[in-house]
Amino acid sequence: MVVVMSADATQADVAEVVELVRSVGAEAFVSRGVSRTIVGLVGDAGALGMLSLRGRRGVSDVVRISVPFKLVSRENHPERSVIEVGGVPIGPGSLTVIAGPCAVETPAQTLAAARMARAAGATLLRGGAFKPRTSPYAFQGLGETGLKILADVRDETGMPVVTEVVDPASVELVASYADMLQVGTRNMQNFALLQAVGSASRPVLLKRGMSSTIEEWLMAAEYIAQRGNLDIVLCERGIRTFEKATRNTLDVSAVPIAQRLSHLPVIVDPSHSGGRRDLVLPLSRAAVAAGADGLIIDVHPDPAIALCDGDQALVGADLAELAGQITGLAALMGRTAA
Ligand code: E4P
Ligand code: PEP
Repeated sequence: MVVVMSADATQADVAEVVELVRSVGAEAFVSRGVSRTIVGLVGDAGALGMLSLRGRRGVSDVVRISVPFKLVSRENHPERSVIEVGGVPIGPGSLTVIAGPCAVETPAQTLAAARMARAAGATLLRGGAFKPRTSPYAFQGLGETGLKILADVRDETGMPVVTEVVDPASVELVASYADMLQVGTRNMQNFALLQAVGSASRPVLLKRGMSSTIEEWLMAAEYIAQRGNLDIVLCERGIRTFEKATRNTLDVSAVPIAQRLSHLPVIVDPSHSGGRRDLVLPLSRAAVAAGADGLIIDVHPDPAIALCDGDQALVGADLAELAGQITGLAALMGRTAA
């Protein structure tokens, strides 16, 4: 059950609802979104039903949710959400392009990639300072030095920064530099990390686990929401299948399904999906045609010497071509570039 507070509900109204719920031995989880607050209730449905929450001051609605992900479900919140990252909207009506290097390597490389991204119309800068690598011998990222480079490049270009956090202990540090915290595919079910980003005051980009179902992905989002952070964007980035021609298989159907089940925006990563530069454009077109709210794309000034994922990185001209094509497609889908 979820209590939807009205837009003018006060802190005291919310606190009274929480107190009432706890008085019958149930638990209440408060999530404050951009436009309103919702309170998720967990406990005996009979006892909760007796509380007459509907009609209390500050309560707009009480909704019974049939799916296991309550706070992020569309049943609870029929209107699709728009999440703002440093003033840039992600959600229905717009198509947001996030682009930048897979990994932050040097100040010059990051600035060059950001300029390519911005010139092509991308409004958010991506770049990993903490890289989750299969091999412990592969480049692991520059850590805090990389975060500082990202912050400098944000100052230079005006592009808010999206960057990955790989463990709960680093959340505060990463949040002190970044505008959005990314949880990668390998960490989608790192529950301690999900809880930590759920307590952070930054929007979260939650990538789908490469072997996770859509429901598991939404349950991971629920962990974040349950800690009070409803500013979550879902990212489909390809799943493991038997197919070897691509790095992962882009699950295009996950876009409309996740949007139907959840009010959260859904974007697509065509770079990690295909793992191949030549597939980034066609997969981007497929994503936009399927209704994605945005794209996150790897770009590098010199992919041949990239320290991570060079095979899937675009150069500036490729990204400009892609942006031109998807802008036309986005307009057909009723979206404008954010
Ligand atoms: C991404 O950006 C990841 O760190 C990268 O895709 C990991 O790939 P790997 O298997 O080469 O380490
Ligand atoms: C990334 O975007 O840098 C990344 C590591 O992606 P994923 O978690 O999807 O592999």
